[in-house]
Amino acid sequence: MNICVIGTGYVGLVSGTCFSDTGNQVTCVDLDQRKVDMLKNGEIPIYEPGLKELVEKNVKAGRLTFTTNLTDGMKEAEVIFVAVGTPPKENGEADLQYIEAVASQIGEQLNDYKVIVTKSTVPVGTGQKIKDIIKSKTNVEFDVASNPEFLREGSAIYDTQNMERAVIGVESKKAEELLTKLHEPFQTEVVVTNIETAEMIKYASNAFLATKISFINEIANICEQVNADVTEVARGMGLDSRIGSKFLQAGIGYGGSCFPKDTRAIIKIAEQVGYDFKVVRNVEEVNNDQRYRMVEKLKQALGSLEGKKIAVIGLAFKPNTDDMRDAPSIDIIREIKKLGGEVVAFDPVASDNAKKVIEGLVTAADIYDTISEADAVLILTEWKEVQQIDLAKVKKVVKEPIIIDGRNVFSLDAMEQYGFYYDSIGRKT
Ligand code: UGA
Repeated sequence: MNICVIGTGYVGLVSGTCFSDTGNQVTCVDLDQRKVDMLKNGEIPIYEPGLKELVEKNVKAGRLTFTTNLTDGMKEAEVIFVAVGTPPKENGEADLQYIEAVASQIGEQLNDYKVIVTKSTVPVGTGQKIKDIIKSKTNVEFDVASNPEFLREGSAIYDTQNMERAVIGVESKKAEELLTKLHEPFQTEVVVTNIETAEMIKYASNAFLATKISFINEIANICEQVNADVTEVARGMGLDSRIGSKFLQAGIGYGGSCFPKDTRAIIKIAEQVGYDFKVVRNVEEVNNDQRYRMVEKLKQALGSLEGKKIAVIGLAFKPNTDDMRDAPSIDIIREIKKLGGEVVAFDPVASDNAKKVIEGLVTAADIYDTISEADAVLILTEWKEVQQIDLAKVKKVVKEPIIIDGRNVFSLDAMEQYGFYYDSIGRKT
C-alpha cells in the first residue's frame, strides 16, 4: 500500500517506519526542513531505542522516504495519516491549529480517493471537523478515519510491532477494509467502531492509566503512615486479573507529553458538554501534589535546604527517553532551588534538553561526580545506571548518606546493610 504520514514526531516517525517495515511504501512529510534533512541523512531527531536501525533498514530498501513537500508526499498515497502535534492551550484544551492547517492543505491537494486518518490524540469530534474542512475545499471523494496510537516512548518500536489492539474508527466499508488490511501483519485484535468512539478510546485509556498511577500513589502515601509496603500492596492487588499488575508503581507521579496533556484535555472535553469529570480532576491534583512530596522528604531528612548540595539522579520523565516535557524533575528542582538548595543533576541522555527548560541547571556527566560531597541524593528516574550503581562507592563519596528515592529503586535490606538514611515512596523509612 502507498502511505503518507504527516508529522515526524514520535507517533508519525515510529508508525511510518513500522508501516514501511511491513512492506508498504511510506512517505513521511514534515514542514521542518532541518528535521527532514536529518532523517534523510539517517539521523534521528529523537532518542528512541531501535529506531535508527529500523529507519536505516527501510530507507535502504527504498520503502521509506522523507520530504517537506506535502503535494509530492500525498499524490500516490491511498491512506494519509495525520500525526502532527496537538499541544495543550493555556486552558488545557487541545490546540488543533496544526491539524486544521493540514486538513486544509489536504483538501486543496486531493487528486483521487484517499482515507485521511488521525493518529494524533484529538478531541472527540475532530474527525468530523477535518471532514468538513476537506469537503469545503474539494469535490473529490474521500473518507476520514481515526486510528489512535498507543505506543510508549522508550519502547515505541516494540509497542507498535507488538500492539495489543488496533482501534479503527470509520464511516465507510472502504476505509475499514484499507485500514484493516494495513494492520494484518501485526496480527492483533482490531476494534472497528465509529470515529467518535475511537477518539474517546484513546483519551479513556490514557486517563484510566493516569488514574491507576494516582491511585497507587495515594495508597503509597497512606502506607507510609500505617507501616504497610506499597510495592507488596501493588503485587497483592495486581495478581487479581481484574486489576492487573501494570501501572501500579508508586513514585513521583506521571509526566511526559501524554498523560498530563490528555487528562487535562478530557476534563475540558467533559466540561464543554456540561459534565464535571470528578475522578480525573482529582487524579490530576494528586499527581501535582506527589511531586512536591519529594521536597518534603528532603526537608524531613535535612531540615533546611539552604546551602545544601542535592544530587538529582534522573531528569527525564521516565527511563529510555530524553523527553523533558512535563517531567516532574522540573518542578521538583525549581522548588529545591527556591528553598536555597544547590542542585547538581545527572541524566544519561536528557541533560541537554533539561538545561533548556530548567534555568541555570548544573549537570555532571558522571553519576559519581554528581553525588560527590552531596548532602542528599534524590532519585527521580529509574535509569538502569541507577539500578546498577555501586552502593559502597556511593557511601564513600557522598557527604551525608541520605538517599531520597522517588522510584523505589533499592531494596530496604540493601539500604540498611549499607547504613543509608533511606526514604522512598510508600515504604518504611
Ligand atoms: C503513554 C501511554 O502509556 C501510551 O499507551 C500512550 O500511547 C502514550 O502515553 C501517548 O498517549 O502517546 P508514555 O507517556 O510514553 O506513554 O509513557 P508511560 O510509560 O505510560 O509513562 C508515563 C508516566 O507515568 C511516566 O512519568 C512514568 O514514570 C509514570 N508511571 C508509569 C508511573 O509513575 N507508574 C507506573 O506504574 C507507570
